[in-house]
Amino acid sequence: MICDRISTCACRTMLTWMSVACAAAWCAATGVSVAEPPGQGTAPPRLVRQGSATQLVVDGAPFLILGGEVGNSSGEADYLRDFWPTLRALNLNTLLAPVYWDRTEPAEGQFDYRLVDGLIREARANHVRLVLLWFGSWKNSMSCYAPAWIKVDTTRFIRARDSAGRSLEILSPFAAANRESDARAFAAVMRHLREIDGDLHTVVMVQVENEIGMIPEARDRSAAADAAFAGPVPAALVEYLRRNDEQLAPELRSLWLAQGRKTSGSWEQVFGHGLATDEIFMAWHFASYTQAVAAAGRTEYGLPMFVNAALIRPGYLPGQYPSGGPLPHLIDVWRAAAPAIDFLSPDIYFPNFAEWCRRYTRSGNPLFVPEAQRGADASVNVFYALAQHDAIGFAPFGIESTTGPAAASLAQSYELLGALAPTLLAAQGRGIMAGLLPESPEQPQPQQVILGGYSLRVTYERQAPPSLAEGGAAPPAAAPRPAGGLVVAIAPDEFLFAGTGLTVTFAPAGSENAVVGILSAEEGTFVNGQWTRRRWLNGDQTHQGRHLRLEPGRVSVQRIRLYRYHEP
Ligand code: DGJ
Repeated sequence: MICDRISTCACRTMLTWMSVACAAAWCAATGVSVAEPPGQGTAPPRLVRQGSATQLVVDGAPFLILGGEVGNSSGEADYLRDFWPTLRALNLNTLLAPVYWDRTEPAEGQFDYRLVDGLIREARANHVRLVLLWFGSWKNSMSCYAPAWIKVDTTRFIRARDSAGRSLEILSPFAAANRESDARAFAAVMRHLREIDGDLHTVVMVQVENEIGMIPEARDRSAAADAAFAGPVPAALVEYLRRNDEQLAPELRSLWLAQGRKTSGSWEQVFGHGLATDEIFMAWHFASYTQAVAAAGRTEYGLPMFVNAALIRPGYLPGQYPSGGPLPHLIDVWRAAAPAIDFLSPDIYFPNFAEWCRRYTRSGNPLFVPEAQRGADASVNVFYALAQHDAIGFAPFGIESTTGPAAASLAQSYELLGALAPTLLAAQGRGIMAGLLPESPEQPQPQQVILGGYSLRVTYERQAPPSLAEGGAAPPAAAPRPAGGLVVAIAPDEFLFAGTGLTVTFAPAGSENAVVGILSAEEGTFVNGQWTRRRWLNGDQTHQGRHLRLEPGRVSVQRIRLYRYHEP
């Protein structure tokens, strides 16, 4: 489901050192990177490889999602109408919005697409794309969006059970009727999308289910689940483990190795006895069910599809968090069972944003962050995700309720990133770009980045809260803007920096005994793909030629040219 953009080979070679910004404009102008002309009638949105990156291509051109996800009950066009001024002011280009199974199929086999139609109509009127979220069998573990005719018929539509035999409001992934009903409904929605949007591509991707996972115990104890648990590990999973042995997630691999790398046997024989095995078992069955749903949808309309996960609080054990979902330690199980799913996504509400991004990309999984905390951190985390991990996109949750300083910061970041998008898209996957983000936003430590033959020492400076002496009597309404950004090596000895609160000094990357100086530093931005200088920077702004500094408290872009001279 991910293709190589072979037509871009010439473009890619040239890009290694030619100005990325120029190359982006060149590729766009000549159509080299464009498989077909943009606009109506082009191929549906799809995923394409560029170097080590996976990009979303929409209407023939790579597309960076600067998004926001609406609240769970804000997916109705009439309700959303009042929020469009807020959304437009955020400069986002994509809205993530739910499609509810209960409202879509109120009676079995009878479909009502008015909510989807309304979302598409409003998105088009407001010039944004959509990522639709299929709230089907599972929403944050539970089955609250299952239609009433499913909920009340607990004989036909089997529920998961806990170890005391109590039925949970969680559809069991072991019941064929559950799976087939969900798959039929999802396929109907995808067919409808193809019919009404197959030309204009307002909808660019689809999330299948939402934050799948078993809770409050690690394993479903329904009769069908118990029978499956006593049976053998499916041959397809064992075969996957065998074929990918060296690349397996370390957590999964160590369980398998500890049991002697068995290629057959029960779940406990192959992975050992314990909660971790219960979780692997559930992951396989959740993923197999989701595969059936996604595959049915793809048959109708092959948009890129992904699943999202609720992450694990430190110290929590399987059963205490939604277990068996598309978590990084289970990525192999999901890949083996659900090839119709293109990638697994983290919903990152924790402060260690960089660490979760790393965990989700360590085995080549494309990064897309469909939910993130909508506070001040979002306005810098987005730079890091797009640059360090070649992310397809980023979206804070509850976007229509984003107000005050957090909204202002995000709007500035999205405006700047929108202007930089062609440059970033041209750079993704080529090893010429890095994200800049402290591991701990509260206590930022200096970092070293090696890029373009230089060693960059980056220090971070959060915006200071207003002091009482400055008349800041009241505490700030929101946390001051944290520090972060990105850097792109756009040509030999030349870098583009974007972000806020960064101070960077330069040295040769190798053992060369040279001093690095600044030839020129400019602040500016891209307008229609062209670098447009606002001012030359020197003197105090570069500490008399010693460093580059992006002031805290506002986002900005600088283009800097370096040179080396040797000590006599
Ligand atoms: C994560 C879920 O995926 C969202 O739908 C929503 O429930 C948020 N949590 C609330 O924080």
